[in-house]
Amino acid sequence: MRVLLTGHQGYLGTVMAPVLAAAGHEVVGLDAGLFSDCVLGPPPADPPGHRVDLRDVTAEHIAGVDAVIHLAALSNDPLGALAPQLTYDINHHASVRLARLARDAGVRRFLYASTCSVYGAADDPDVSNLVTEDAPLRPVTPYAESKVRVEDDLHALADGDFSPVFMRNATAFGYSPRLRADIVLNNLVGHALLSGEVLVLSDGTPWRPLVHAADIARAFAAALVAPRESVHDRAFNIGSEINNVTVAEIAEQVAEAVSGSRVVITGETGADPRSYRVDFSRFRAAAPGFDCEWTVKQGALELADAYRKHGLTREDFERRFTRLAVLRAASDAGAVDDTLRRRR
Ligand SMILES: NC(=O)c1ccc[n+]([C@@H]2O[C@H](COP(=O)([O-])OP(=O)(O)OC[C@H]3O[C@@H](n4cnc5c(N)ncnc54)[C@H](O)[C@@H]3O)[C@@H](O)[C@H]2O)c1
Repeated sequence: MRVLLTGHQGYLGTVMAPVLAAAGHEVVGLDAGLFSDCVLGPPPADPPGHRVDLRDVTAEHIAGVDAVIHLAALSNDPLGALAPQLTYDINHHASVRLARLARDAGVRRFLYASTCSVYGAADDPDVSNLVTEDAPLRPVTPYAESKVRVEDDLHALADGDFSPVFMRNATAFGYSPRLRADIVLNNLVGHALLSGEVLVLSDGTPWRPLVHAADIARAFAAALVAPRESVHDRAFNIGSEINNVTVAEIAEQVAEAVSGSRVVITGETGADPRSYRVDFSRFRAAAPGFDCEWTVKQGALELADAYRKHGLTREDFERRFTRLAVLRAASDAGAVDDTLRRRR
């Protein structure tokens, strides 16, 4: 298939592009390149792509495409909080516009990168009840709300020829040549190496489902070729029950992976009300043979190795690999305008 991969120069897209190519697909990227320089290690070999803002996509960018994988977005809560209206413009309106253009162009499958954050704060005090895709959606941030709105609007576009699929990813971890250090495991491993402390700014009790970036890439590759009736207009949690962990457990795994580091739990009530354990069985049933390969511990060891090998610095950890800091610096330098459009 000829696959348009939006966000191909992001953390997940940089891992996904070669996985899709290895599965025999022709990959065409589309990205504004906001984080294209956020590289740790050798520069990745990007597929050919369009350097364009999602809000400016036209039918030309989609001509000849069989399937779309849509990752491009302001990708976390702090970015969403920075400018809620921009989050809705980019993540919601531009995504729905892209889907309409894709449907008009005869694209048959549209894999959308949603998130387990759509479930929001847990309403079930019994965490042994795993959250399924049928659970009520209670987004607690503009970022998560934007994902819910896209799911709703894409659902309305589904028809006999156009199949949106909602991939509700757990929080990612693991090495990508375009690193993010603002996601929990990647952040804790970096902290452990740079300071000797695995610093948990809460009491550590919230549950977080995690998933390796490479497993997300394999899941999207599987969803691309799964029988239409298995995935058409359906939502899937993407991850594995073995990686349903508390923040304190994540910290313990990191301390074991980074020798000499120790866990520090500050004990304050975290600002983030999310806490849930997730059921991932629906996607395994829809894509037989798929399962996640990476555990949290393996990911922590892999990252610690990568950080050491490529010489992670505190400056890069706090700025280059933190999405919010990169956008603030781009704005201060005049490289993006006040709508986050690149000027050059
Ligand atoms: N990383 C996670 O833990 C995680 C978890 C669940 C869902 N997701 C979703 O997966 C997707 C990819 O996440 P990621 O971690 O790779 O994020 P990322 O920030 O590394 O990548 C996002 C990419 O989108 C591009 N982009 C942003 N705004 C754009 C615009 N206006 N026009 C064109 N391109 C634009 C950026 O340049 C970047 O390359 C996002 O939709 C995110 O919400 C990520």
